[in-house]
Amino acid sequence: MSYQCPLCHSVLSLQANTWRCENNHQFDQAKEGYVNLMPAHHKGSKNPGDNQEMMQARRLFLNTDHYKQLREEVIRHLDEQLPEHAGQLLDIGCGEGYYTSEFTRLNARHPKLAVHGLDISKVAVRYAAKRYQECHFCVASSHRLPFPDQYLDAIVRIYAPCKAEELQRTMKKEGILVTVTPAARHLYQLKALIYDGVRLHDMAPEVIDGFDLIVD
Ligand SMILES: C[S@@+](CC[C@H](N)C(=O)[O-])C[C@H]1O[C@@H](n2cnc3c(N)ncnc32)[C@H](O)[C@@H]1O
Ligand SMILES: [Zn+2]
Repeated sequence: MSYQCPLCHSVLSLQANTWRCENNHQFDQAKEGYVNLMPAHHKGSKNPGDNQEMMQARRLFLNTDHYKQLREEVIRHLDEQLPEHAGQLLDIGCGEGYYTSEFTRLNARHPKLAVHGLDISKVAVRYAAKRYQECHFCVASSHRLPFPDQYLDAIVRIYAPCKAEELQRTMKKEGILVTVTPAARHLYQLKALIYDGVRLHDMAPEVIDGFDLIVD
């Protein structure tokens, strides 16, 4: 596998727990196994993304498997649509890795598939890497994916932001994108406790430049 250097965009390779590029930019592999590829000057705030409290709450909730059915649906779509010799899958905004880890089940039919998780929240990635050692996790923004051009066979995005240009740049020509976005009444009751008027989410299928809709 290879990451792209976030500073000069050349290839990073791993030597003795440090990812290095030809221009000698260096990024250490943390003891949990993830790499932080988010230079300080790319951050909009000191600790971007979800914080520790949010992460713990999400993990507690996801541990109850209320979202297992959704996870199974995503895996079913991937299994049906993944190109035969798929080698690289990325989960954008992977959070604490609840979905990412189960994507390794696709290895049964795609033995060469490497599963990556990326999130802008360092605490989320630390949680994920500690628990799910079989995946490759990095801290980075979906607005600057640290992967070479046309590198990914599949990208998954579950309730997370992305940038169309970066999806287009990093995705192989025959690659597939699976997105999960909120249904009209997602978290409606919770929002009704806070807001006077709750707006419903738009259910129209998302149109992303450069991609054709295969399944709605
Ligand atoms: C609603 S959570 C969804 C997490 C996970 N996919 C799930 O469904 O459990 C959104 C995630 O996107 C991350 N995030 C927000 N902005 C991001 C960005 N620009 N790049 C990468 N991740 C981002 C947050 O830190 C958070 O973990
Ligand atoms: Zn570099």
